[in-house]
This record gives sequence, C-alpha cells and structure tokens, in this order.
Amino acid sequence: PTQVRAICCIGAGYVGGPTCSVIALKCPHIKVTIVDVNPVRIAAWNSDVLPVFEPGLDEVVHECRGRNLFFSTDIDAAIQEADLIFVSVNTPTKTSGVGKGFAADLHYVEASTRRIASVATSSKIIVEKSTVPCRTAASMRTILESNSSYTADGTLISFQILSNPEFLAEGTAIRDLLAPDRVLIGSLDTSQGKAAAKALSEVYQNWVNPSKIYETGLWSSELSKLAANALLAQRISSINSLSAICEATGADVDEVAHACGLDARIGPKFLKASVGFGGSCFQKDILNLVYLSESLGLSEVADYWHQVIKMNEYSKERFARKVVSTLFNTITMKKIAVLGFAFKKDTGDTRESAAITLCKYFRQERALISIYDPKVTTNQIMLDLTEPGVVDDAEQVKKQVTIAKSMKEACVDAEAVIICTEWDEFRDASPQDWAEIYASMKKPAFAFDGRGVVDAKILRAVGFKVHTVGKGPLIVDPIWA
Ligand code: NAD
Ligand code: UDX
Repeated sequence: PTQVRAICCIGAGYVGGPTCSVIALKCPHIKVTIVDVNPVRIAAWNSDVLPVFEPGLDEVVHECRGRNLFFSTDIDAAIQEADLIFVSVNTPTKTSGVGKGFAADLHYVEASTRRIASVATSSKIIVEKSTVPCRTAASMRTILESNSSYTADGTLISFQILSNPEFLAEGTAIRDLLAPDRVLIGSLDTSQGKAAAKALSEVYQNWVNPSKIYETGLWSSELSKLAANALLAQRISSINSLSAICEATGADVDEVAHACGLDARIGPKFLKASVGFGGSCFQKDILNLVYLSESLGLSEVADYWHQVIKMNEYSKERFARKVVSTLFNTITMKKIAVLGFAFKKDTGDTRESAAITLCKYFRQERALISIYDPKVTTNQIMLDLTEPGVVDDAEQVKKQVTIAKSMKEACVDAEAVIICTEWDEFRDASPQDWAEIYASMKKPAFAFDGRGVVDAKILRAVGFKVHTVGKGPLIVDPIWA
C-alpha cells in the first residue's frame, strides 16, 4: 500500500500505547488499533485509569479513543484490517538458556510475527518497534516469507519489514513523541523496501518535519538503537565514576559536570550524577550489545560496554554502603525512610529502579523501611521487594516494609531519609516542611540525597547531617572537619 489507512500495534505497553496514541492524535484519517494478549491491560486502556502514567497521555487518549484509536484483544481482526503493523512487544533479557543474563528474549517478537503470517489476508508493512538485536528483521522476514499465502484472487501476500526504533524516554514520552529529535526508519535497499519506508515516513510527516526523518539500512537502524542507549548510559556511568572522586576529594560533581558540559563537544545533558541509572532499557540493551559483541568474537568491545553496567552496580552499592557506614555501621531494626521508588520522576514504572537495589540491600541489613512514592502502587513495591521463590518472603517483606502516603509520614521516627527518585515534590519541599520532618525523626537525623535534588544548605540549617551523591565529605561541622 502506498498510503496507510489502518495501523495495528501489537503490544499495548509503555511504548506501543503512547506511540500509537500520538499517531492517532496526529493522523485523524488513520484508524489505529492497539492490541495485546493481556486483557487486563487492554481493559485499563479502555478505562479512566490508564495502565501507564505519562504526563499528557490521558488527554491524548481521551481525545482519540473511540474516534480513530481503539484498544482491543482481537489481535487477528486488527492484523487483517491493517496496512501497517507495529510490533511493540517486550524483549526482556533472557533468564535461562543460551545467552542467559545477556541476550534479548525474542520469543514475543517471533510469536507476533508468526501470528501475522498466519492470519494476514493481504500484503502488509511490518514495523519493528521493539528494541531488538541486529539482524532480527532478517529472521522476521524469513518467517513471514516461509509462511506467506495467497489472497482470495490468487495474488501472493507480501510483507515488507522496516525497523523504526523508539527513542522516547518515560516521563517525557508525549513530549518526545510530539517533537522527536529524529525518527529513524531502516529498510532494505530494494524498491519495495524504499516504498514501504516512504509510506511510514508519510505517516510521521503529518507532524514531524521531513528533515528529522532519517532513512538508513535495516541493520544500521537496529544497531543505532542499542548504540544510542549505550552512549547515553555511558555518560551517566562516567559522571557517576567521577562522583566517587568528588566525594573523596571534596569536589562538587554538579560543578564538574557543568564545567565539562560547557564544552560544546561534550554538551550539558545527561550528566546528572545519581545513585545509579534504572529503567527497562539501559541495562537490557547494553547487555544485549555485550552479547552481540561476544557472539561476533569481539570480546574487547564486549568488555568495554559491560563496564558501563558494572559501574552502575558499583554506584548503587557504594551509596548503600555509605548509608550503613554513616549510621554507625548498623541499620538493624532502624527505620529508614525511602523517598521515591520509580526509576525516575514522572513515571510509575519501577523496572530496574535503583530504589529496588537499595531497599533489598537495606532488607538484608535487617532495617525497617518506610517508602513513599507519589505514583507507584503498594502492590508493585511489595512485588519488587519480594525475592521470587523464597519461602515466606512475602510475609517477611510485610514485616520489614511499610508504605507511607506522604513524605512526612514516611519519615516519622526514621533515623535516615534517603532520596531515590528526583520527584519535584522533594525538590520543592519548603524549609518549614524539612524542619517538621527533622523534628519527627530520631537524632542524629541523616539525609542521603541520591539524586542531588534537594538544597543541602536548607537541610543542614534545620539540623540534618546531609550526604549528597558526588559532593564532598559528609561531615561539614567545623568541629569534625
Ligand atoms: P511492555 O512490557 O510495557 O509492553 C509490551 C506488551 O506486549 C505487553 O503488554 C505484553 O502483554 C504484550 N505482548 C507480548 N507478547 C505479545 C503478543 N505475542 N501479542 C500481543 N501482545 C503481546 O514493554 P515496553 O516498555 O512497551 O517495551 C516494548 C519494546 O520497546 C521493548 O523492546 C523495549 O526495549 C522497547 N523500548 C522501550 C522503551 C521504554 O521506555 N519503555 C523505550 C524505547 C524502546
Ligand atoms: C531511555 C532513553 O533515554 C530513551 O531514549 C530510550 O528510548 C529508552 O531508554 P528512559 O529509561 O525512559 O529512556 O529514561 P532516561 O531519562 O534515559 O533515564 C534512565 C535512567 O538514567 C533513570 O534512572 C534516570 O534517573 C537516570 N539518569 C538520567 C541519571 O542518573 N542521570 C542523568 O543525567 C540522566
């Protein structure tokens, strides 16, 4: 088809839902149907409480749902109706078998591909939206071609494969989708491949300037997604490695980052030191890149990128150790308030959140943990902190972990408050709020800012002993200096 009239998106998750909702918003002439095997998720997309929290998403869905945007579990019908199908299913790290712990699990992608091949009654453009290892499109193509059939009038059903990786970040997904830095479309260098890329490009051109649409070969497009995430995560691990030097020397990591970022070649973004990066993508995609490098016999390349992950693990561990050593080397039965559980602000997503690693560490030290997050549900927190397969662990978690309804409630009687997510409400708390929190805590009251989000001067002024990631020694009182 030269002009796309109906789109199906397989996978109604963090990517498929927002991405295709924005396409529906900007292309009222295209019918967009987002399908999923999970009926609970589809029901939520059709309800008032969407399964994904993203600023601006509710408004987009409310405007389009029932007009040209539909959420459904009838996958076959949506495939048959569509001229273009996004495959936006999950591609988690394999937990068993060959490549365990590194390679991407592609069975959801393959299942979707086989389903398309078996139910399609007309030719389609298939778009790889999921993040996949290099050359996955080749496997998809082989599956589709070996299972192709004929239409009722005897024409061969053909499938064109495109790679169109998604670069949105959670918490800013709608903004990123409305004004992307670039849209990347990879295709085969054949006339049909180019025609398919043009059809997809025209969908985006309903709101994206053509100068931002970059067409490449399939393999470059697939690799660029892994490469972009690796380069971004590498900046964070780099600044986090420097934060350890800052803490040991009294330098200030924000000043160092600012000074370096003034160099136009380096640039200021993505240099915020933190307790460690989280999220469903960075770790998974780098492990995938490491696996790809190893399988190509490039072990030095694999080691190089693996170090980005190792530095991230070290950052989380170093921060957790700092908490325990500062609290006189024991946190057993001490109450620790954890502010923020999502992997970053403005999302309810907790996948690979640094808060999970920290809380598990504190659990092992037998602390009592009180957690507050404005968007993450109690169930999700309890699930994330329970060790799968450990007998009675869910019961043990309930004894050790409580969920608070506000930052103030979380801190009552705590010995330390630990900021894990950079939610605006932590940054915006007033000196009066911090004074009340301080008054309600055990003394000495410690604050550990894993995000460099609160003004340490304000906290010190009300009495806290403050440690901020990447900022000088903990003890600033002249008597101790
Ligand atoms: P997700 O787990 O939120 O959503 C995936 C959905 O696909 C689930 O609802 C699942 O039920 C559904 N699904 C799985 N197999 C299916 C099948 N055979 N048929 C129909 N539905 C099926 O995952 P996500 O965060 O949306 O990520 C999807 C892909 O996008 C991944 O490859 C990820 O790496 C990539 N990606 C994610 C982000 C992000 O910020 N989350 C950003 C860019 C790219
Ligand atoms: C990332 C990529 O940014 C996005 O382009 C890709 O499509 C998916 O993966 P996401 O994981 O949603 O997006 O969020 P991102 O803003 O990249 O943050 C990832 C983690 O890094 C968060 O835990 C964040 O707090 C942390 N981070 C980010 C830092 O610690 N410092 C920074 O300077 C930036």
